[in-house]
Amino acid sequence: MALPEHVRVVEVGPRDGLQNEPGDIIPTATKVSLVHQLADAGLSHIEAASFVSPKWVPQMGDAAAVMTGIQKRSGVYYAALTPNLRGAQAAVETGQVDEMAVFSAASEAFTQKNINCSIAESLERFTPIIELARANNIRVRGYVSTVVGCPYAGDIQPEQVAVVARELLDRGCYEVSLGDTVGVGTPHRVKAMLAAVNKQVPMDKLAAHFHDTYGQALANLYAVVEEGLAVIDSSVAGLGGCPYANGASGNVATEDVVYMLHGLGIHTGIDLAQLVKTSHWITDQLGRRNGSKVALAMGCEGV
Ligand code: HMG
Ligand code: MG
Repeated sequence: MALPEHVRVVEVGPRDGLQNEPGDIIPTATKVSLVHQLADAGLSHIEAASFVSPKWVPQMGDAAAVMTGIQKRSGVYYAALTPNLRGAQAAVETGQVDEMAVFSAASEAFTQKNINCSIAESLERFTPIIELARANNIRVRGYVSTVVGCPYAGDIQPEQVAVVARELLDRGCYEVSLGDTVGVGTPHRVKAMLAAVNKQVPMDKLAAHFHDTYGQALANLYAVVEEGLAVIDSSVAGLGGCPYANGASGNVATEDVVYMLHGLGIHTGIDLAQLVKTSHWITDQLGRRNGSKVALAMGCEGV
């Protein structure tokens, strides 16, 4: 299949990237500035916060303050994770959220650890969230985690992923993002998973959300883009990990994805040099190593 002309990159750094950051709580102003800088670099979809329990994920405890602190730029969608109706109501109250994201998984064990309920219960929880979102003109994205492997249950059958993805779509999600939460996928396995899901869900309703724990994320992304998938989630500087998936490293770095896509002649609308400056800025703020090879190669001035 021909490669897509354009790929939409969904930046999840401010949420997936920062949710697991050890140490002190990152100041709200730093989170807000990161979101602004990402929009300046041309990211049109930014997952900015997560309205989860602060007992479960302390770094996201200031979600409402982050959302209200953002000076929104036209043409940019600002998204927030909402695990339950309470979180969705808090997101709506900010008046700033363009998109909510609900999240389940293909693994029962992971769903229990992550959101303290079964897959079926999680899907039931999403119905009132989606109704509330519709009433407020907010669209809803769905995540399926552990699409290849689970830290608790091992290998996942592609058909398990397809069932949950279809359910999310049927319940009103406009798009389903497929999360290789622990980054155990390799290109042929990821393609087999995508083929099974694509029997149930059209390709233009799917996104890839790959963590880079085993260094396979770029290879896996190339494999799925070749199959016609045209939405990729990534995290500036490769920040992140999942608090309920031991060993999960960051998402694939946005800079690395953009470099690969541009090299393939695929448009993203992202200014790579500007993004690399943001990448060095946030890693300086956090005092952590930059997880993007492209950012390291291009240096602090983004050239
Ligand atoms: P629970 O303990 O089953 O629910 O948690 P609960 O209703 O009994 O509430 C427990 C406490 O949390 C209570 O406080 C509630 O008030 C409070 P207490 O009475 O003990 O003082 N609470 C809340 N506080 C603020 N906002 C809320 C909220 N809800 C309850 N919305 C719950 C259920 C879903 C809330 C919990 O399990 C949770 O917050 N889980 C979040 C886990 C999480 O954020 N994981 C990481 C994100 S998912 C991810 O990273 C994967 C992804 O990137 C894709 C991939 O990589 O695969 C998306
Ligand atoms: Mg993730």
